[in-house]
Amino acid sequence: MKKSVILDVDTGIDDSLAIAYAVHSPELDILGMTTVFGNITVEEATRNTLIVLDQLERPLPVYTGEGKPLSRDYTKPFARHIHGEDGIGNQYREPSARQAEALSAPEFIVQQVMDNPGQVTVIAVGPLTNIARALQLEPRIAEHMEQLIVMGGAVTVPGNVTPYAEANTYSDPDAAALVFGSGLKVTLVGLDVTMRTLLTATHLEQWRSTNSKVANFLADMTDFYMEAYKGFIPDGRGCALHDPLAVGAAIDASFVQTESYHVHVECGDATILGKTTGVHAGDGPRIDVALDVDAERFLAHFLSRIV
Ligand code: BDR
Ligand code: CA
Repeated sequence: MKKSVILDVDTGIDDSLAIAYAVHSPELDILGMTTVFGNITVEEATRNTLIVLDQLERPLPVYTGEGKPLSRDYTKPFARHIHGEDGIGNQYREPSARQAEALSAPEFIVQQVMDNPGQVTVIAVGPLTNIARALQLEPRIAEHMEQLIVMGGAVTVPGNVTPYAEANTYSDPDAAALVFGSGLKVTLVGLDVTMRTLLTATHLEQWRSTNSKVANFLADMTDFYMEAYKGFIPDGRGCALHDPLAVGAAIDASFVQTESYHVHVECGDATILGKTTGVHAGDGPRIDVALDVDAERFLAHFLSRIV
């Protein structure tokens, strides 16, 4: 049976790859896309999501969500140095002829989860602001959402925006803390595993050699991301497939191995803001944290679907 999913994105280059992977995967029935600020503004995230869906020729509905963190004015600077000035590797040419739906992202999430109890999985690959807002609107989604798969956090490894914090949890730590403590069935796919799933320049050349329009569009934007990742991955070996791995975990949970933890998100101390700490002992909500990944099998699966 297909898995009904909502993909929550801050489209972004690896978000775009995650969208293509999801759209090309028959195991998933995508109910809609929801957008959030993060790599770029929420308006740009909606614009980019519509453009990517146009390229993929899949006119899925897109719902615009939150444009700033849940409960603070501070916003992490956008990640244009990683994703390009436009968020999609400077490949933006013209807007889509389509527009976002009238319903907001949190409203759409609540509506889908409450109308289909136990049957909707949300894959969230940006800051968790939309999910936190949805919980505030309707706390019962915590028991009725089938699963929430999150790209975020760095539980056993260093961060990527600060030595302590990963970009999505750093962008809205309060939202992450609320979501992880809500009782939602969360699988956290963080830097612990995503930094081990690397796409290389050779893969991009293989995409181009197919001569497909989508393959070229994705390869052209990923060139920018690949270049930016030379600062993160020694020897320029490749770029991390953060958001695609979260989609992979929705398709085949065995791509990652998880352990159950209470995950604390630092919301106070500015030095370690957004740091995710896993604790085994104690009561209260736990989430499944991915600590190991079958990188080779995942990468082969991703590559077989992407173009
Ligand atoms: C995460 O931050 C964003 O820049 C990426 O799209 C990914 O979701 C990685 O830390
Ligand atoms: Ca993202």
